[in-house]
Amino acid sequence: MQSTLQDYSFFHTAIIMDGNGRWATQRGLPRGEGHREGAKAVRRVVEAAPGLGVSVLTLYAFSSDNWRRPEGEVKQLMSLLYEFFQNEKENCIANGVRLSVIGRRDRLSLVLRSAISAAENATRWGGALHLRIAVDYSSRDSILRAISLSERRDLTREDFSGLLGKANNLDDRAPDVDLLIRTGGEQRLSDYLLWESAYAELFFTQRMWPDFDKSDLEEAMSAFHHRERRFGAAPAQAAR
Ligand code: FPP
Repeated sequence: MQSTLQDYSFFHTAIIMDGNGRWATQRGLPRGEGHREGAKAVRRVVEAAPGLGVSVLTLYAFSSDNWRRPEGEVKQLMSLLYEFFQNEKENCIANGVRLSVIGRRDRLSLVLRSAISAAENATRWGGALHLRIAVDYSSRDSILRAISLSERRDLTREDFSGLLGKANNLDDRAPDVDLLIRTGGEQRLSDYLLWESAYAELFFTQRMWPDFDKSDLEEAMSAFHHRERRFGAAPAQAAR
């Protein structure tokens, strides 16, 4: 279903979870501690999201460019992801959360890939929230993969969103983003959901990701509801 001006029965929030490293450095801790606290923030936000009207939540956990980080940091992020898929499965089932991963899988370890598939299979009936974790994700690469899946030259936007879903290993079409949040004070998109965010409302906060909680998500959702979305139309037309 596509987001419209009035219909928020479907609501997609996407988050660029930035600031883990700085959070740790400011406390004299190794960067890894920031990632560990960041994983706790993920759990808090997943718990709060359905109650705040979010039906799809896409979290940027590891970008394709993050492979350029020091080996130790990459390893730690991978093991946090493994722990998450391994340990949160039951919780997700109990709370109606469907887990999916978007991005490339071929560069992930076999154990992580298995944990992801097991979590996706076990939670596939979840109807309260679709939690999508972006791992080894690059929006530009996804777009290129989607293009290579089609031989047609007369694609509609809908067709292309379908292909983009497939390019990210999902049966669903790529859902448009309603609200894109970035924590940590930077204001850029970092190759995240570029097609899907064509009309997303952007919300930037100074809050470092490990400190992000339900009240921050509430603030972002409330800011969204005070925005006027026009999708390119004039104000009077948009109100119709
Ligand atoms: C950006 O902060 C954050 C990341 C690259 C990793 C995000 C990972 C997590 C929140 C934990 C694991 C995820 C899940 C789903 C369990 P940064 O390190 O670039 O921070 P900085 O800009 O302050 O250096």
